[in-house]
Formats: sequence, C-alpha cells, structure tokens
Amino acid sequence: MANRLDIVIFGVTGFTGLRTIPYITNIIKQHNLSLTWGVAGRSETKIKRMLKELGQRNGVNYDNIPIIIADVNDENSLIKMTSQARIIINACGPYILYGEQVVKACIETGTHHVDVSGESIFIEKMQLLYHEEAKAKGIYIVSACGMDSIPAEMGIVYLKNNFEGTLNSVETYMYSSITDLHLGGPAVNTGTYNSIIYMLSNFFKTHSQRKLLFKTKLPSMQPKLNMKIIHKSDVINRWCLPLPEPDLAVIKRSQHLNYDLYNERPIQVNCYSGFGSVFFMILAMIYGFWLAMFSQFSFTRNLLLKYPRFFSYGIFSPEGPSEERQEATIFNLKLHGKGWSEKLKDPLLQPDSPPNKEIIAKVSGKNPGYGLTCAAFALSAIMILTEADKMPEKGGVYPPGIAFAKTSIIEKLQENGVKFELLSKN
Ligand SMILES: NC(=O)c1ccc[n+]([C@@H]2O[C@H](COP(=O)([O-])OP(=O)(O)OC[C@H]3O[C@@H](n4cnc5c(N)ncnc54)[C@H](OP(=O)(O)O)[C@@H]3O)[C@@H](O)[C@H]2O)c1
Repeated sequence: MANRLDIVIFGVTGFTGLRTIPYITNIIKQHNLSLTWGVAGRSETKIKRMLKELGQRNGVNYDNIPIIIADVNDENSLIKMTSQARIIINACGPYILYGEQVVKACIETGTHHVDVSGESIFIEKMQLLYHEEAKAKGIYIVSACGMDSIPAEMGIVYLKNNFEGTLNSVETYMYSSITDLHLGGPAVNTGTYNSIIYMLSNFFKTHSQRKLLFKTKLPSMQPKLNMKIIHKSDVINRWCLPLPEPDLAVIKRSQHLNYDLYNERPIQVNCYSGFGSVFFMILAMIYGFWLAMFSQFSFTRNLLLKYPRFFSYGIFSPEGPSEERQEATIFNLKLHGKGWSEKLKDPLLQPDSPPNKEIIAKVSGKNPGYGLTCAAFALSAIMILTEADKMPEKGGVYPPGIAFAKTSIIEKLQENGVKFELLSKN
C-alpha cells in the first residue's frame, strides 16, 4: 500500500474523467490533504494530449502526473493498474460493458472503487456478487457517485437529519433549466446516451436480479406512499412524470440497507421529473417509450448507438456540450418529506395519528452533468480515503446514501457549488 498512488482516475480521456481532475486538485488544495494522484487509460498518446490541452485551459502543468496504461479488455493491465492505487475513480462507461472487469480487479488487489454509473443492473449486480468479498478485503465499492444519485441520496440524508421527528415518506422532484436560451448545441455527451441505451436494453432483467439482492422483506410502513402517474405538482408547480431509474432504485437499496444494518425505519420514496409544459412532458413520454422499444433489439439498438445525434434530436453528441452550455444548465431537486413531529422510541412503530409534519428541502447547482458530477465523484473518493472511520462496517458494496451518510460530504459539496437548503418546515 505504501508505494501506491492514493487516487488513479481511469478513463481520463473521457468527457467526465478529464473534468474530474480539477476537482481532485482543488479539493486536495482546499483541505491541505497530502493525497497523491495519477491517471490511467488505454492510449498514452491520447492521455498526454488531453492533459496538455486541459493544462493549457487551466494554466496548470500536468507533465509530471503519473500515467498508467490499462485496457478493460486486458485483465493483466487492470490488475497492474489497480495494484498501483488505493482507490480507482472509474470513469469508463457504459458500465454494463466495462464496469465489472474493473471492480473484479479492485477486489483482487484490495483497491477501493467509485464510479458514476446510473445503470441499475450493473450497480445491483456488483452488490450481489462482490459485497461479501469487498467486506472481507476491507475495501469500499460505491457506484452512482455523480448527478445520479448523489443529490437525491444526500438530499434524503439532509432532509432526515433536519426533520426532527419521524420521517415516513419523501417525494423527490427533479427539474432543470438553462439560463441562456440562445445557447444551442448538444446538452450531453454520448457516454451517457450509450449508457442509457444499454440500461434500457437490460431493463427487463433488473426485476429478477433484484429478487436475489433483497432477501429480507421490508416492513410495510403506513400511511402508504402511492405513486402518482401524471400530475401537476404544487411543490415545483410543474407537470411531472414518475422517474423509476436510476435515483429511485439507488434510494431503495439505501433504505433496505438502513433497515438491515441499523434497524432504521425505511423511508418510502417516489421520484418524479418535472417539465416546463404539458407539451414537453408528452414529448418526453413518447420519446422515452420509443427509445425503450428500439433498445430491445440488436438491429435497432445498433442504429441508435451509431447515430446518437440523429436519434436524440441533437441533444447527445460525441463532442459533448460546450463549456458555456454546461455552465448555463441549472439543476434543482426538491424533496418533500412527511412524517410526525415526535421521535418514535421504536422507529418501526406505527403512530395512531396521521402525519402532522412536512418539510421541503432543495438541492441545486449548475452544470449537473459535468460540474456537480465531477465534484461529487472526486469527493466520494476523497471521503473513502479520509473518512472511512465514519463509513459502514469495514468495507463492502454500498449506495452513496449509506456509504457517506455520516461523513462530511454534504458540507464539502456545498463548498463546491452544490447548495442544500430547507425551504419550508412546519
Ligand atoms: N450519472 C451521472 O451523473 C453521470 C454523468 C456523466 C457521466 N456519467 C457516466 O460516465 C460514463 C462515461 O461518460 P463519458 O461521457 O465521460 O464517456 P466518454 O467520454 O465516452 O468516455 C469513456 C471513457 O472510457 C474509456 N474506454 C472505453 N473503452 C475502453 C477500454 N476498452 N479500455 C480502457 N478505457 C476504455 C474511453 O477511453 P478512450 O478515450 O481511449 O476511448 C474514455 O476514456 C458513462 O457511463 C456515463 O453514463 C454519469
């Protein structure tokens, strides 16, 4: 361990991997941490070129940063890479295709691992297959450390910590906006688009895998939180649709583990996405349905993957969004919590009276895709290296809401442009 770098960013030539570097260096500087870091990828020439370009943009010289060559398709190279790091920040996606090989190498070499996957089938498979081994080796494997699902997971932790009573249910409402409507061009890089396609193509397998993952049944909490289908929410004053993936799936795992590990009352949660008008909501429904159908068959799936710009009306592209477009994108997540003002002695007890307390919290920031994501990505790794004593057990595969609930990640996200606030409390 003594000769290892503290952090290695794998997939550094990617849109997300490269943009994580400044967050790593800034956080290390902000908190005076003595953490060493390096980068990894499959092409040395490309890594050097991209580090040079980033250095020129940021006025930093990255010439002396250690570079490790590793390819997902070469197991030995992954073993060599992971044995040179204490933690791998893995930005190589789609994780359904490339993720497990890296996690496996981390388990073998005793290396922590974080990623920004939103692909439930991959995330849950890692818990199912590697939780016990990770625990035995004393390493942490934490997925969904980006926009999916740090705001939602840490938002629930924040709401619960500020509830002062017994929290029974939370409804989350996500919506985004752009400050300059004249900024055109793509909004998201194709890395995310490819991951969505692969996630949709595996959608029907998630159910059977989940049955294996959750062996204990959660007690049924009352009053039951029913999912609303299409509705206009007065929490965000927008038309909303249910959002079953990826936040809700990650949150459900956290609630299950909270009950299994700490005997805490499982909070019932539903997630929604808000739209500026009924027209955009209907368009999103039609597009979502159509994309899900086309993702099921290899011929149509390959067409979707080959022509991302065409099949996404220009929203996704291999060049990714411009820096201006990223900075102009604003993200909001409102969390509406309901429960009782009394703290129950036995959290699993059912009060006789109906809920008498509601709180609304908000998590917001700009540049959700590559600002918030990269800040949360870097901080997740740094939490594991610096605050492992506040994390569950001595290792294992966990969602962020369990892994980082007791760490200072919310405070440090706030220092890095992600705002957590209480909007109303009664
Ligand atoms: N949930 C969130 O909030 C969030 C936000 C942003 C991104 N993401 C996820 O992050 C992932 C990456 O997205 P991105 O936009 O950064 O994608 P990207 O720009 O396409 O980057 C992919 C990276 O993977 C590397 N790679 C591909 N195949 C490889 C192999 N065989 N061996 C080694 N490296 C390989 C690429 O290396 P080369 O350059 O050599 O091809 C590149 O560095 C996606 O899964 C995306 O969904 C999630």
